[in-house]
Amino acid sequence: MRRRSALELGLWFLTIAGAGCGGEKRGGRGTRDSPWIIGMSQCNLGEPWREQMNRDIEAAAAKHDVLKMVFKDAQNDSLKQRAQVEELVAQGIALLLISPKETAPLTKPVAEAFDKGIPVIVLDREVEGDKFTAFIGGDNEKIGHAAGEWIAKALGGKGKVVELKGLMTSTPAQQRHKGFRDAIAGQSGIEIVFEADMQWLEPNARKEMESALAQQSKIDLVYAHNDPAAHGAYLAAKQAQRNEGMKFVGIDALPHEGVAYVKDGVLDATVLYPTGGAEAIELALRILKGEKVDKKVTLGTRIFTKESVERGGDPIP
Ligand code: FRU
Repeated sequence: MRRRSALELGLWFLTIAGAGCGGEKRGGRGTRDSPWIIGMSQCNLGEPWREQMNRDIEAAAAKHDVLKMVFKDAQNDSLKQRAQVEELVAQGIALLLISPKETAPLTKPVAEAFDKGIPVIVLDREVEGDKFTAFIGGDNEKIGHAAGEWIAKALGGKGKVVELKGLMTSTPAQQRHKGFRDAIAGQSGIEIVFEADMQWLEPNARKEMESALAQQSKIDLVYAHNDPAAHGAYLAAKQAQRNEGMKFVGIDALPHEGVAYVKDGVLDATVLYPTGGAEAIELALRILKGEKVDKKVTLGTRIFTKESVERGGDPIP
């Protein structure tokens, strides 16, 4: 083998060092001067829960000067979210965080990013298949089940119930529905008298509840897949002067939203659905440092009722 000249070696070194800097293209080198750039694709910022998720991510990322966040808000539009993911990938981010609006339309852009070698952490709503690095979210079936068990007990096994479902093209709604229905399956005295897809939105929930009230002369309880919807239903019932004696159950349990509603006597119960924002940043750091991580991280939950709200709710076994 021929010996390399000093000039050749120097060029070789520059090439290798340059390739290292090529990391810039992949969203930084994980140093203070060249932090890793994490793109966060949020499906919308119209609800307090999503604002909280972004705040949790921002606060966790701010503790690490080797990270820099770039946020995108898809304004509840799957096509827009898809374009924003593609934009982030084209910008050369080091890692993608995404809380997708809907399962099917966001599966492809996530898989494409993953196939390009960009680690992807999916948060809260799932995509299809396994072309992502990790998923972080609450156990929505367990949450729906816990709500169902509490409801069956609160109604003494008998009553007329309205179910206001989240967007059924997103996995949390499908799972909250299934868990709830499984829990009440053996309760022949509980009747679902009205159900509708409110797409996670309070104004829709309020309108659907107005229809339910118009159709049904007796409603004992409303099970809504999130707290904004439970609140919307309460407002519709109040407007119709039918809220007295009617129970309202939601999911999310943000301190300044669902938990406050329980304290104020607006909701009878809410089940915690953590945002996973802080966990996402810790996991992102480990992935960027080259550690192997679990593919699924399931976050815990609690239930808050009138009896338990002051002590911070109760765990769900
Ligand atoms: C916010 C939200 C939450 C709900 C979650 C489900 O957009 O509707 O209220 O728990 O999404 O993905």
